[in-house]
Amino acid sequence: MSENIHSTSKVSDLLAQGPAVPYLAVDQSPPLEGEALLLGAKNATLVIMTSLILTKGVSILRNIPANDDVIHMIQLLEKLGAKIAFDPNTNVLEVDTRALEDYHVPLEMMKMMRASVLVMGPLLARFGKAEIAFPGGDVIGARPVDYHLINFQKMGVVIEQHGQVVHGHTQHVKARNLLLEYPSVGATENLMMFATRTPGTTRIINAALEPEVFDLIAVLKKMGARIQVDAPATITITGVEELKPVEHTVIFDRMEAAALLVAGAITGGYIHLPQGPAHSMGMLLMKFQEMGHTILIHPSGTGIKIKATKTPTAISIKTAPYPGFATDMQAYMMAALTLAQGMSRVQETVFENRLMHAKELSKMGAQIDVVHDTALIRGVEQLYGTHVIASDIRASCALVLAGLVAEGRTTISGVYHWKRGYQGLEGKLRALGANITLYE
Ligand code: EPU
Repeated sequence: MSENIHSTSKVSDLLAQGPAVPYLAVDQSPPLEGEALLLGAKNATLVIMTSLILTKGVSILRNIPANDDVIHMIQLLEKLGAKIAFDPNTNVLEVDTRALEDYHVPLEMMKMMRASVLVMGPLLARFGKAEIAFPGGDVIGARPVDYHLINFQKMGVVIEQHGQVVHGHTQHVKARNLLLEYPSVGATENLMMFATRTPGTTRIINAALEPEVFDLIAVLKKMGARIQVDAPATITITGVEELKPVEHTVIFDRMEAAALLVAGAITGGYIHLPQGPAHSMGMLLMKFQEMGHTILIHPSGTGIKIKATKTPTAISIKTAPYPGFATDMQAYMMAALTLAQGMSRVQETVFENRLMHAKELSKMGAQIDVVHDTALIRGVEQLYGTHVIASDIRASCALVLAGLVAEGRTTISGVYHWKRGYQGLEGKLRALGANITLYE
């Protein structure tokens, strides 16, 4: 895309000619105040959609966000032969997998979205064969799929690689104890889906335990899978012959919730998320409190209010697998910390190149030094609107959040990333008082 090559002045020239280049414009906004509703979690939705390959019949999923990643996954499942109806107004998705017959995912579909790799386990379980392309690296890191492939091999899948194409077929499939070197979300999900139909008992040890993984487990259990989770981080799956279609409402998106709470925090406002999944956002909420913000949690564990302080203080965060500080919330929080009094420290340990927004925030007047995996942020009094470039889904949102408090206008290109991750978040922010417009 053009985003990497335009200098600031060239982009302003282009923007002056009209929205030939899609962009977000954010003007300095008053403290955001009010109530907002959430949609379902993108990352739970994507994997749950692939899990339907394990079934033959019509499944109904509710609370499905109509973002571009979900649209791409619909196209991918349709390419494999699924019949799909999706209403982006009611967020209900109906998937009929009876006629699914293809097990090849073309390169261009893999390149659109790395989550496409999550079809591999279900395709191997259904057809004994899967052909995908290597998703390759992306801007936030190399993101290999070696944990997926090595462990499929341990379970009796023969993997052949021809250039960018990865072909897998089952041979003497056997349940095994699989020890993950790192609790990879995608590897845990892919292997678990394959194991639901593998005879015997598979154990995934050092498994990822993200809330989105648990939502997938809930769906697989509704299908009839036998799955148990025990300490230490072990998922035990006993294979069954057949899985049946499901109806399921996807969990609320903790990343969308985090974005809205940071919008309240950074503008010194007040936000209420009646559906806010506080039970799965503990680390973020604790960090807000450390900064001086007041957090109120509904006793049920669902429902969050933030009353922001006008004088937040610096804190340290270090990203980690759940229940540590989520890497997907790191960019949002960095935006908030640019204005916190003192020196904050943000260490990114999950992806090796996920601090690119630091450079863009610096263009807005933030004082940030990046050393290896750590950003040192000296709080400033004021940010200033300018043109910035979004490098990934979460960075696009972090720049919007910074734009809310920057003097003047912030324009953000790389809107493609924003649209991949969120449905109508700009409208929700606007309803809370934000001056934000998406030009397409
Ligand atoms: N990794 C390997 N080998 C593998 C798999 C992972 O080295 O075979 C490494 C990755 O390179 C990374 C780390 O392990 O450094 C963690 O990766 P993980 O597999 O956990 O991430 P993922 O499954 O590719 C999902 C989300 C990401 C989220 C991460 C971490 C989906 C579709 N994506 O990715 O979401 O950041 O887990 O929680 O579920 C986003 O929504 O913006 C996003 C990037």
